[in-house]
Amino acid sequence: MAPFSDNRPSILIASGPWAPEPWAAAVRELDPNRTIHIWPDMPHDRSGIGYVMAWKSPQAAFDGLDGLRFVFSLGAGVDHLAGLDLPDVPIVRIVDDDLTGRMTEWVVLQVLAHHRRQLAYLRLQAARTWKDLPQRPARDVRVGVMGMGVLGAASARALAPLGFDVAGWSRTARHIEGVATFAGGSQRDAFLARTDILVCLLPLTEATRGLLARPLFEKLARDRDGPILINAGRGAIQVEDDIVAALRDGTLAGASLDVFAIEPLDPASPLWDAPNAIVTPHVSAPSSAAVLTARIVRQIAAYEADGTMPDDLIDRDAWY
Ligand code: NDP
Ligand code: OXD
Repeated sequence: MAPFSDNRPSILIASGPWAPEPWAAAVRELDPNRTIHIWPDMPHDRSGIGYVMAWKSPQAAFDGLDGLRFVFSLGAGVDHLAGLDLPDVPIVRIVDDDLTGRMTEWVVLQVLAHHRRQLAYLRLQAARTWKDLPQRPARDVRVGVMGMGVLGAASARALAPLGFDVAGWSRTARHIEGVATFAGGSQRDAFLARTDILVCLLPLTEATRGLLARPLFEKLARDRDGPILINAGRGAIQVEDDIVAALRDGTLAGASLDVFAIEPLDPASPLWDAPNAIVTPHVSAPSSAAVLTARIVRQIAAYEADGTMPDDLIDRDAWY
């Protein structure tokens, strides 16, 4: 590998709709001698740029980067890079306990909110009505997690000790203690048929786009209090008109959505007040600039010291 003692490659921060300053400030604090560029303020000669910290960056930010070593996604998802013509370098995504912990909190909160009928109790409270509602024990509630990667597995591991009957579905077979696992298209219907509360933590890929639609909702279990849909994966995995219609006609008994095909969600969207729906503004696991930059700076330092490759490279064929 090339020596880095002089002229260390610079970092380009192209953070799209996110303010770049917190990310730049974190790099400056941790690696004060590193040159930083902030898109669209680019040097005339771009060949010194070795790393891009990217979130929803435009194609032009990647043009002419002949010295690029890595693209660091500022989130766990990399679908924001999928349509771009990128240099043939490794793409690193975020895997971090901070982000995983936040997502786990959100998923557990949503599962419990539906399981413990919190929306119905809020309506009763608004009407000053003292009334108890029937309540199943968690052991009678089957939660199914679609996507058993870093985030899905962490949520499944948090839900199982609460007593829920938890299963997971992924592309390839996984083994997780205390969790029934299903894999691939051939086992999907069996997984759906035993699911009262469906949690989606899939990445957006060509295979998952539009998956959360009426035909799938109709395959969920409906012999108990569900089905409930919880999606924090990506908005384009869901068909929003189908969700609204399914909530209205009872095909879905409730939903919690953190992600939307177009964000911010249009104030006129019927999702805001669909029956038994909880909408949050893509906040289930926000990227913390300080925490995540520390990780990226460590990965760059290890690479420049002895060529150590970062963990968490994506597979550019599967695109996640
Ligand atoms: P991982 O890459 O660790 O896990 C992805 C999981 O999805 C894997 O289990 C994978 O299967 C499975 N999968 C992928 N494609 C398919 C398919 N076609 N059929 C079945 N299973 C499939 O990702 P993370 O857990 O780290 O993150 C998941 C997603 O969560 C991100 O891509 C992002 O979109 C979203 N996210 C949302 C956030 C928010 O704030 N709302 C925050 C962070 C992430 P296998 O195990 O076989 O590879
Ligand atoms: C992510 C996100 O992918 O914040 O990390 O959505």
